[in-house]
Amino acid sequence: YRRLRVALLGAGAVGSQVASLLRQHADELADRAGARLELVGIAVRDVDAPREVDLPRELLTTDAESLIVGADIVIELMGGIEPARTYLLQAINSGADVVTANKALLATHGPEIFDAADQVGAEVYYEAAAAGAIPIIRPLRDSLAGDRVQRIMGIVNGTTNYILDRMDTEGAEFADVLADAQRLGYAEADPTADVEGYDAAQKAAILASLAFHTTVPLDAVHREGITSIDKQMMDAARHAGYVIKLLAVCERLNAPRPSRSGEAAYRDEISVRVYPALVDRAHPLASVHGANNAVFVQAEAAGNLMFYGAGAGGVQTASAVLGDVVSAARRHIAGGVGVGESTLANLPIVPIGRV
Ligand code: NDP
Ligand code: HSE
Repeated sequence: YRRLRVALLGAGAVGSQVASLLRQHADELADRAGARLELVGIAVRDVDAPREVDLPRELLTTDAESLIVGADIVIELMGGIEPARTYLLQAINSGADVVTANKALLATHGPEIFDAADQVGAEVYYEAAAAGAIPIIRPLRDSLAGDRVQRIMGIVNGTTNYILDRMDTEGAEFADVLADAQRLGYAEADPTADVEGYDAAQKAAILASLAFHTTVPLDAVHREGITSIDKQMMDAARHAGYVIKLLAVCERLNAPRPSRSGEAAYRDEISVRVYPALVDRAHPLASVHGANNAVFVQAEAAGNLMFYGAGAGGVQTASAVLGDVVSAARRHIAGGVGVGESTLANLPIVPIGRV
């Protein structure tokens, strides 16, 4: 196989799992991608910091810029706006395809990054930037591109769902469960992003932009967090047959507009909002427990679709990141035009018994 140089920026909850899986499944990934994915280095802040996963010391560096030079694929898992933005732009301009899970960056600087990629024919992959392991970016961008999405509604932040779920089912205290969510690697580096709804708002902006084929600026998203939700409110909701969930709702509204002729005329308007809501216990969203997420998509022709699974967590999110890395590798070896064929694994076919 041809070798592709992969540079990883960040080895935290997600990055360390990506590095580990890249090495652990190197042969299988080479078969799937049609190229050997050679991890050439991992940029971190502190090479001596303790890590959940054992990573070869010689791969760790604090010099992200040198790592980017000559890389075919750059995976950004540092989080935050700077220096992630600068590094992604450097990677794109040096001819790499990039993979990122950074919704904060994409929701604020998405157009700049996508334009930079368009100008040099690079691709930006970001399946992990919304709803963790759940494939939702590709379905909205590709599978539903021929349909008309009317509404997206769901739980898109794992940390807050984990907190609210434990407050509801165990009567746990907000601060205790937030600390657990941080320990489990669900929360953002600054968990204010989770509990104040910023993270869900960023994801909602990304999902709405894809679904409605536009750019939804972050400041157009109505945002409320869950910090005002206490035990008494949870109890009151439970007694009334509800559970409190942090919802993201993105809708295409058909609003009347003034017309000179006086005839009825309508234009599409988009409403995107994140807020804690009372969800009937009989509704499927009420059964989304722990750090799971669920996204309902309502499209004109397809009808109702539901996406469900792990919304946060290092190894779960690493799955989405690696899917993007394989896509980037296939595109890269196909010369940047279209998607290359994967090499099919020569597995024996086991006969399945008749029922
Ligand atoms: P962490 O905070 O756990 O890890 C961040 C990593 O980036 C660390 O290894 C850190 O180095 C490194 N880093 C940070 N700043 C710099 C810098 N300036 N230069 C070099 N290295 C740097 O983050 P996560 O792994 O949780 O998240 C990574 C990204 O994935 C974020 O964008 C997040 O929003 C997104 N995401 C996270 C999910 C999750 O469940 N955790 C799920 C989906 C998306 P060091 O280790 O030395 O401190
Ligand atoms: N902090 C985020 C969450 C990580 O809890 O959903 C996944 O995007």
